Order: sequence, then C-alpha cells, then structure tokens
Amino acid sequence: MSHILEIDKRKTFAIISHPDAGKTTLTEKLLLFSGAIQIAGAVKSNKIKKTAASDFLEIEKQRGISVATSVLSFNYKDYKINLLDTPGHKDFAEDTYRTLTAVDSVILVVDCVKGVEEQTEKLMQVCRMRNTPVIIFINKMDREGKDPVELLDELESKLSIRVRPLTYPLGMGMQFRGVYNIYKNSFAFYKPNKIRVEEDVTIFESLSDPGLDEAFGSDAKKLRHDVELIDGIYESFTSDEYLSGRLAPVFFGSAINNFGIKELLDTFIDIAPSPMEREVTNGIVKPVDKNFSGFVFKIHSNLDPKHRDRIAFLRVCSGKFERNKFYHHVRLNRQLKFANPASFMAQSKSLLEEAFPGDVIGLYDSGIFNIGDTLTEGESFMFKGIPRFSPEVFRIVRNTDPFKSKQMEKGIQYLTDEGLAQLFTQNMGNKKVVGVVGELQFDVLKYRLLHEYGASVEFTSMASYKAFWLKYNDKNDIDEMLRIRSNSLYYDKNDNLVFIAESEYSLRMAIEKNPKVKFLSAIEHNDQTLELENVA
Ligand code: G4P
Repeated sequence: MSHILEIDKRKTFAIISHPDAGKTTLTEKLLLFSGAIQIAGAVKSNKIKKTAASDFLEIEKQRGISVATSVLSFNYKDYKINLLDTPGHKDFAEDTYRTLTAVDSVILVVDCVKGVEEQTEKLMQVCRMRNTPVIIFINKMDREGKDPVELLDELESKLSIRVRPLTYPLGMGMQFRGVYNIYKNSFAFYKPNKIRVEEDVTIFESLSDPGLDEAFGSDAKKLRHDVELIDGIYESFTSDEYLSGRLAPVFFGSAINNFGIKELLDTFIDIAPSPMEREVTNGIVKPVDKNFSGFVFKIHSNLDPKHRDRIAFLRVCSGKFERNKFYHHVRLNRQLKFANPASFMAQSKSLLEEAFPGDVIGLYDSGIFNIGDTLTEGESFMFKGIPRFSPEVFRIVRNTDPFKSKQMEKGIQYLTDEGLAQLFTQNMGNKKVVGVVGELQFDVLKYRLLHEYGASVEFTSMASYKAFWLKYNDKNDIDEMLRIRSNSLYYDKNDNLVFIAESEYSLRMAIEKNPKVKFLSAIEHNDQTLELENVA
C-alpha cells in the first residue's frame, strides 16, 4: 500500500471526560462495534474511585498484564484507529495533557445529567490551546437529564466553542425513543443491548417517513419540529470549521446500552482528521515527508516488575518507522536502532516491523528517553507543543533509609522522567523538591519508590505557591534574585533556573524587583525559548 494510503487510513485520537461521564464505557463500545472484542466487559476501568495509592497500584497491576491500555489500536471498515488512553483522575491531568499532544482529534464525553463539569472545561482549554478538532458525545440519554437544547447552550457557553448537533434525540430517560441522524438523514429506534452489538435496530431512512408517526404519534411531529429548529439555529456543519477546532459536532447516545455509538463511529471515520502536520523547531513536518520522525510523549517504567522494563511511547509523525533501522536521537546526538519495538492491537502487544504516521509504538528504553525526545533519520529538529506546566503542590524529599540512597536517587530520576512528578534541586542536588498537580501523586511516588526501587522516602511540606522558570538575557538581570531570594531558587532536570515562590505576594515582589526577568509558569519541553505563559 502506498505511503499516502497508509496515512489516510489512520485516525489517532483520545477520549476525554470528567470522571464517570462514561469514557471507559465508550472506549469499550468502540472496540465492540469495530469487532475487536465480541462481548462487553473486557476493558478494565482505569479510574481511581477512592483517592488512594493502592487503587492506583491495582490499576498498574492490570496494566502490567495489558500494557496495551495505554494505546488501543483497532480496525474499523478500511481505517486503522489508534485510541490513546488518558487517566480520568484530575491529579494525573499532566499525563492527559501530554497524551493530547500525540493525537489528531478528540472525543469529549459529557454526562447528560451533569452537563459540563469542571474537568470537562479544563480539558477543553487544552484542546483549544492546540486547536484540536473535538467531537462531543452526550452520554447516558437513557437517564433523565437536562433538556438537549439547554445542554447544547451550556456546551457553547462553558466550553467557548460553537456546536453543531449531527444527531438529535427523541425523548430521554424512560421516554428515550432513539436518535435522528441529521448527517445521514435517518432515524434509529432505541433498542438497548448492554452486551453485544444489536443487529435488529429499526431504521427509518428519512424524517418524513410515515412509519415515524405510526410509531411515535405526536412525538414524531415534535421531532420534526425540533430538527427544523436545530437546522435554523445552528449553522451547517463544515469540515473546515471542525478541523480548525472552531466547531464541535455533537452526538447523543447511551454508551452502556450500545446506542448512538454506530452513528458516532461512522461519522468519526468520515470527518476526523488523518495524521496532521506538526510544528518543529525549524519549520513543519508533514506526514507525507519521506524521512521518518516522531516524538516520545509518554514513558512508563516497571510495567512488569519481574522484568524492570521501561517503555517509551513514540508517536510517528512522518515517513516510515522500521524495526532494526538506525535512527537519530536528537537530544543525545546518538544513532539508535530498535530490535523489539511493540505495537498495540486491540488489547495485545506484539512485535512491530514498520509503523506509519499516526501510529504509536512502544520502544524498550534503558533510560535514554525523556518526554519530548525526538527521533529522526538524521535531521536535528525537535517537536514543539509539548508543554510543562508549573506544579501546584511541592514537598521536600527526605530519604529515610541512608543505606538505600543510590536506589532513592535512581528511583526519583526514573519516576520524574516518566513525568509522575517534576524534580527541582538545590545544593548540587542534595536538596530535592518534587512538585505535582495533586496529592495522590505523592502517594504513588512513595509507593513506587519503595516497591520498585526499594527506597524509602518521606515528604515534608514547604511554603510554596507556584514554580516559575526564569528567563533573562544577562546574569546581572537576576542579581537581586541570587542575592536576596537564593533560598527559593532551584534547578529543574534540564538545568533551567526555577523560582519556587512562597506566596503570591513573594512572586509579585520578585517580579517588581527584577524587571528584566521573565517568569514563566509553563514552558516547552523542547524549546525553552518559547514563552508559553509569562506572568510578569
Ligand atoms: P469514566 O471512564 O468516564 O470514569 O466512566 P465509566 O465509563 O466508568 O462510567 C461511569 C459510570 O457510568 C459507570 O457506572 C457506567 O456503567 C455508567 N455509564 C456509562 N455509560 C452509561 C450510559 O449510557 N447510561 C447509564 N445509565 N450509565 C452509564 P458505575 O456504577 O460507576 O460502574 P459500573 O459498576 O457500572 O462499572
């Protein structure tokens, strides 16, 4: 098959949602409709119901058995679909943000009873930062939820995006009768089936079909009226608007009951983008470019405790990746080849011979990869758009077993390489501070240090507000910081100078006294000259 055909048939995306909206259920149902699994109940939930490390580890254990949950690939019709998993829990939001750098589009799941929730808004902000095309799936229509028009309004106002329903429900909760597919002009009767794909669904090929009146009486009229109203209020769907991230098509359904999924999946393969071009430090990389390139967006260590392996997940962006061929690791300026790259089909991992743009491959990593690292066929560019945000909570690391300090050093290095937390150091590395988004990450860090590296640590709290990467032209510019605020200055893993402000007040003071310094609360992994968020 030609390179262009390989690219066109790939769709790489993530499902995102506020926890409990139905992300796991929808993931499973997509696998079911594609035929990758035959019966629902096979995909393990990856959510953390109680905020405890043991829950997280239970999930890790499951992942040890099936590493594939980080990426599920399946075929549907003529397409190869790569679905990237994102953690639902907000304490792992950073992991989700990184995964979003590796997809070309997103399906956002919203619970029709709860509407737009806090996490939904945050995730959408990240999509909008990157102009990622978004499809919205309004789930749980079998329950009494908000009025569909009200929900559409809420989506527009809270998510700051224009919406365009491509299906529309008739009734909801006990009165849920089915969905009208505006895009295909057909009506599918609601027939729940939690386990299998329901073959026996009655479909009317048009809204004017008299069969609708026979089946639903006056409700059929209401549906016609509603659809007319929708067509009047919302402008027509255009692919351009969707692909540029300005317009989100909306679908209604009930994932648990396998309903509305086929409409979603069929439209998804029609409209969702195939691998798109990406910005790199010296220009643009296109999927059709002859030379291979890709970047690491996720690293996971010790999936199998017996093997102590570490896998770097790499998104292919251009050219063709081949097993046992030498590639250029740009940051290390080294040539590397991979004898055992892995691909992830449905729920199993297998040896991969070649991969194309849009694919995600697993590379066994002996500690040579960082998040954001680029592989090429010799060129020296790096991929842009992989952000690092300031953590929200900081703790000082204290080693409680002096005989295990080497293990502690190694464990902290490895786990922060994964992005589980960010590491900041002072006094030549003797003082270590870890910064995270949410408290649960400390529990996981402590547990994994002990169980995977045999190191025992404690975390002590410190006065802290946020971390800021400092940018300046001349060392004299930070003279005041070095003299007066050296206690609050740290280095990150790339030797960038970081100011951990004790409070908002201390940040304001530092900004005032150091007018030539930029205080960045977010930076690029690979291009630290880029100012993502300068607060000064
Ligand atoms: P998440 O990954 O986004 O966190 O959500 P998940 O799919 O785990 O779904 C959250 C809960 O919502 C689950 O119930 C699930 O069964 C339910 N659910 C998903 N889709 C629908 C739907 O279309 N209709 C209805 N009524 N419920 C739905 P749970 O009780 O938390 O878990 P479980 O015991 O059912 O697994």
